[in-house]
Amino acid sequence: MCGIIACTSTQEVRPLLLNGLRHLEYRGYDSAGLAVLTTSGHLEVHKKIGRVDSLAAHLPSSPPPAHLGISHTRWATHGEPSDSNAHPHLDQSGLLALVHNGTIENHADLKSQLLAAGHHFLSETDTEVLAHLVGQHYDASSASGPDRLTDSLRLALASVKGTFALAVIHRDLPDIIVGTRRGSPLVLGLGRNQHLLASDAAALLPHTRKVIFLNDLDITTISPDNFSIASLGPHTASWHISDLDLAPDAASRGHFPHFMLKEIHEQPLAISRSLHRRLDHDNASAHLDQLGLSPASLHHIDRVRIIGCGSALYAGMTGARMIESTAFLPADTEIAGEFRSLNRPLGNHSLVITVSQSGETADSLAALREARRKGALTLALTNHPSSSLAREADATLELLAGPEIGVAATKSFVSQLSAFALLALALGRLRHLPHHSGLELIHALEQLPSQIDSILAQSHSIAAIAARFASSHGMLFLGRGLLFPIALEGALKMKEISYIHAAGFAASELKHGVIALIDPHTPSVCLCPDDSLLSKNIGTIHEIKARRGPVIAITSNPNPEIDSLADAVIRIPATLDLLQPILHTIPLQLLAYHTALALGRDIDKPRNLAKSVTVD
Ligand code: AGP
Repeated sequence: MCGIIACTSTQEVRPLLLNGLRHLEYRGYDSAGLAVLTTSGHLEVHKKIGRVDSLAAHLPSSPPPAHLGISHTRWATHGEPSDSNAHPHLDQSGLLALVHNGTIENHADLKSQLLAAGHHFLSETDTEVLAHLVGQHYDASSASGPDRLTDSLRLALASVKGTFALAVIHRDLPDIIVGTRRGSPLVLGLGRNQHLLASDAAALLPHTRKVIFLNDLDITTISPDNFSIASLGPHTASWHISDLDLAPDAASRGHFPHFMLKEIHEQPLAISRSLHRRLDHDNASAHLDQLGLSPASLHHIDRVRIIGCGSALYAGMTGARMIESTAFLPADTEIAGEFRSLNRPLGNHSLVITVSQSGETADSLAALREARRKGALTLALTNHPSSSLAREADATLELLAGPEIGVAATKSFVSQLSAFALLALALGRLRHLPHHSGLELIHALEQLPSQIDSILAQSHSIAAIAARFASSHGMLFLGRGLLFPIALEGALKMKEISYIHAAGFAASELKHGVIALIDPHTPSVCLCPDDSLLSKNIGTIHEIKARRGPVIAITSNPNPEIDSLADAVIRIPATLDLLQPILHTIPLQLLAYHTALALGRDIDKPRNLAKSVTVD
């Protein structure tokens, strides 16, 4: 989704802006642009549909120096991808330039008023309306210097409905960038002789580790040697400087051809990190004291509701099943976008867990706010402890997966599953789970990293299976119980990056309609753990084979019946039922990856997708 990087410096800024945009590419975008103010006072704007490289190629070869600029990657919402719809956008005077993440809901009304006042627009975007509105207040203002820009933003934004993170410059203010946010993230980077604004801290890494995560309604004015933060709201702004705890190579692929493959291979480490110092062997439980939720408050919970979108939702569905089966607590899941629209009742003792890798997904944030409004205790499961979600929830369980750049969620998903296993263990031990069962779960959790390694070692044979079925026009993914949500996740991974139509189902639903889809060109991926449901899963394979459907079976212990029936078998290590979802996820990720590779897809930047969906 859209990305912002802006900088005011004592040095040339164009290379820094282009490099920053490249760090934002993973978020998904369709066009890019920048506006710089040259040292001779000329406002230069360049915008290009397509990749950042197209923008770079479009820039003049020996341009005049520029020490101040704003830049943007756009993911189209209002208006198709095009040069003219790309950001930055100018105001009516052509002297003020603005980049924006988010959506302006009342842009149509605002545009009518501006058109009536004689404004002319060059794009179909809501952002250009915002630029004109800010410019209108700037022209009318009696203030001078930076105050004139902050005042005009304050006045303009008072009439704006929607979400924004934005950075604005004006030709008459050669050192100054003003940035502000409401509902979309914006981070201030404190560099040497320069200050930066970015929508994503990863883009600041090459320049500084000292950052300030701006709060909603903060408005900041930056120059190369100074910054100030005020509030657009009634309160005084409060902020603190954080140290970015990211490895310098966090945003690099290393020796892997794709971020997705790198992140799939980082999963043993991600799981180890998520378990480190959280396993309580003495009490056969999990240390969740860092949550800041007392055992008493957790004991009072009588219902758990888990909310998320996409993969995070499927992790939540698995988590609900883990919590119900381990802690005997009623737990269910809701799509975040539905939760916010449906006015769901919440009991007095509900725990609402919002799951989100980014912690910035618009629907998940809105759902969290709705749950808080209704008085529920809220817990965020996120990879970003400084995210809006983490800051607004009562408590946070950090995933510790490390930065995830690939658009397709992989290591964040298995880290969410392991976090849910820890939560189920802790909640279970607060209730009826016996000590020996708790210990058994701890030992099984500790084996996961090496078990995942052994599945990763099968990458070549999974690639061969993927190549065999890559020309399929559709694929089905079937699982039962704890593995039903994993079937949904397997299908999501497959369609996201291979563009093959894929659908996940509860295997028990096969006979109720899905079976009509079975034919020799539609492979079914059957999740068949060696558990109490094995004979039912073998029955499902029989039903598919009877209709000449190809079957890829994922199973643990050797089973002659599955071996003879299935067209391909992927064998994974045996584990406790509760942890089967984690191990079954790995071959599904590899299957999707190798299928997309065989089809020549752009794996890290799949079409139309954004890494984090920060707009409604
Ligand atoms: C997963 O591969 C997807 N990219 C997508 O479904 C994602 O999980 C979803 O948009 C939620 O994102 P979040 O975890 O950052 O909230």
